[in-house]
Amino acid sequence: MRSWVLHAADRLAGAIGVPGDKSISHRSLLLGAMAHGTTEIRGFLRSQDCLATLHALRALGTEIQEAPDGCVRIVGRGPDALREPETILDAGNSGTSLRLLTGLLAGRPFCSILTGDASLRRRPMRRVVEPLTAMGATLLGREAGRYPPLAIRGAELSGIAWKTPVASAQVKSAILLAGLQALGETSVTEPMLSRDHTERMLTAFGVVPQRRGTTVSVPGKARLAAASLSIPGDLSSAAFFMVAAAARPGAELLIRDVGVNPTRAGALEVLAAMGATITQARQRDEAGEPVADIHVRGARLRGTAIGSDLIPRLLDEIPALAVAAALAEGETVISGAAELRVKEVDRLSALAGELAKLGVQVTEERDRLRILGGRRPRGTLVSSRGDHRMAMSLAVAGLFAEGETRIQDVACVETSFPGFARLLLEVAPDCGIREVGD
Ligand code: S3P
Repeated sequence: MRSWVLHAADRLAGAIGVPGDKSISHRSLLLGAMAHGTTEIRGFLRSQDCLATLHALRALGTEIQEAPDGCVRIVGRGPDALREPETILDAGNSGTSLRLLTGLLAGRPFCSILTGDASLRRRPMRRVVEPLTAMGATLLGREAGRYPPLAIRGAELSGIAWKTPVASAQVKSAILLAGLQALGETSVTEPMLSRDHTERMLTAFGVVPQRRGTTVSVPGKARLAAASLSIPGDLSSAAFFMVAAAARPGAELLIRDVGVNPTRAGALEVLAAMGATITQARQRDEAGEPVADIHVRGARLRGTAIGSDLIPRLLDEIPALAVAAALAEGETVISGAAELRVKEVDRLSALAGELAKLGVQVTEERDRLRILGGRRPRGTLVSSRGDHRMAMSLAVAGLFAEGETRIQDVACVETSFPGFARLLLEVAPDCGIREVGD
């Protein structure tokens, strides 16, 4: 098992860029494969999760070229050109790969089987199985469709109006990818707006979804035209560095070319409410996605309340924000966060357990975390529990801890952020982060 060892860093400064956005990278491949013509993607995230989607699409017969300069070209021949895969498609650790591919494959007239690693095989799938079955596909999964592997027999689908009980961009996107192939219009209504990358990217591919409140609809039998896309840096990856700088009074950090889509940008508001100075410069728009350079000036942070209305807009940043809370003066309450229990690991329980090992006072409730911050963490042995965002958040905590912090099981970071440790060493050289084998 691979581990990181690091120490507190006295200084943190620099100007960096982070790798491409994971959610947008997945979608660029999927829509590129459904489109007609050659789609060009710059800034694609070559992480294990996105490569799982890429390999699955190749197994379905899509031609995808990877140029030495990092540009990815997808030769799209429309959904009808996709072919039955000869073997089981492996989504690895990636819920986005598995759920979005399920939506795409529900509309294809052949049989496919999707699986993933032990973590993904424990994640809930009924949320996509039910609507796709209602549209006319046949889906089978373990425990009556609850868990992968999923077997999909695609069909000629009918459009539906689906109301989903969870705000989930994976569920919404799976239904929309099926709906684009169906007869008639498909709409999805969510309780709160989840990230809208699919909707924005569809516009770049020439199909304009209609939005009314939290309902979005797409036309059936849509013809997508190839696009040229430039993928911004991932705000979820930037968040680890933002917290590292925000919690250190006097630290200054510039993170260039980050996606600041408002359905994702809640962490910027929370860190500002906690006392950091966060500013955006060079704001622009790339293929429908807002992009900016983010400047962070650190301060002595104060605890805050992160309510359920904010959760969809900072879902993946909660592990990093929990570390900010541990370093802040006073109490932080994160509520309405039950969805965190069905991520790569149960993140509420993982955060409570691992932060407690560092001496942080934290209480876990059903859908809530209470963190009483302000005491310096004590470096010790902690574990990512196989979750990439846990690993990186614990490394940020290690930058502030007394003594040595050792984080077990860090290979998972390759799923979203290859090169994280190198970049951390660049902005905080005193931390001396190094990888060791157990
Ligand atoms: C994602 C949606 C979110 C998020 C995940 C990526 C996406 O999951 O946590 O990391 O790309 O659509 P849910 O849709 O399950 O909330």
